[in-house]
Amino acid sequence: MKRNHTFSIKYFRNRMLVRVAGCAIGIGISACGGSEQKEIQMTAPEYVFTYAENQAEDYPTTLGAYRFAELVKERTEGRIEILVNAKGILGDERTIIEQLQFGGIDFARVSLSPLSEFVSGLNVLQMPYLYTNSEHMWNVLEGDIGEEFMELMEGSGLVGLSWYDAGVRNFYCTKKPIQKLEDIRGLKIRVQESELMRVMIEVLGGEAVPMVYDEVYSALETGTIDGAENNWPSYESVRHYEVAPYYSVDEHTRVPEMQLMSEYTWKKLSVEDQNIIRECARASALYERELWTQRARASEERVRAAGCIVVEMPTEERLRFREAMMPIYQKYCADYMDVIERIEAEGERMDKEKTKPSYESTILHE
Ligand code: GCU
Repeated sequence: MKRNHTFSIKYFRNRMLVRVAGCAIGIGISACGGSEQKEIQMTAPEYVFTYAENQAEDYPTTLGAYRFAELVKERTEGRIEILVNAKGILGDERTIIEQLQFGGIDFARVSLSPLSEFVSGLNVLQMPYLYTNSEHMWNVLEGDIGEEFMELMEGSGLVGLSWYDAGVRNFYCTKKPIQKLEDIRGLKIRVQESELMRVMIEVLGGEAVPMVYDEVYSALETGTIDGAENNWPSYESVRHYEVAPYYSVDEHTRVPEMQLMSEYTWKKLSVEDQNIIRECARASALYERELWTQRARASEERVRAAGCIVVEMPTEERLRFREAMMPIYQKYCADYMDVIERIEAEGERMDKEKTKPSYESTILHE
């Protein structure tokens, strides 16, 4: 939506600034007269944009969205206003992505799982057991590979702005914990609306049930499904732990998230505004990552305190999961094996870096 009115107001230079500015807008310039007045130009929003977010108001990605909107408003001196709609009120992720393509919604933060249905190459970045840890994933996303995948968005009707953190995903069940590969056989496991995620469950021997996020709680409660999988903050925030208290830490995927803009909206903006949008999105992503780390810890503590049974999957069992999931690499990454190799090489480089003796200890041992 584009609005086009500029108006001037008077304001007091001292602490009354905010109150008086409100007064000028509400009842007109003359009513606010007094000493120490100064004439300035205030621009009413030229653009008012919508931002879709499917998490709760206090969730890290939502707080990141608010920070983004705030930064953009500040940098454009109020010319661009972004209204954040949290709690999925604008629809599920697939619908939101379609709306972005049509320009019905201007911004959103979505998980790479549903997004990969629109830009299939992105599947590469959410492959099971691809990253050794969070640092590894962030080195990849913040380096050349992350940049190349942002560019892959071109032609999709979507503009990738920044990467958001969504931690690591684990399985959880209503009746008993998944402790080994065999335990998943025959279980109905909810997956995101993503073919890759459906196939992942199938190769493990489970029955995949694709379903939108906000229907999972009642599906767990009514027994339509036996389990689901998600990160600690989601498991806690949407209270899945109440109905599926057996959480198995197997860390099967790290599914990054992306802040997106409709290409339709993007093209309406000047290059200068486009740059501001990108910079603010990236700044908000750093903030989100900080919040993520804190929230993941707090969520884990909360669900443990609520009495959930948390099972740590031993390394040898994780390796069996990993092994079982390997055929998916051939199916989804055939055109990207070079990228997979680069990602693995980065992981190995980081491992070596970690185990390398420090400068001091090298000296000592010489
Ligand atoms: C995470 C992600 C959501 C997504 C959800 C899901 O919570 O942040 O965007 O909808 O997973 O499992 O569907």
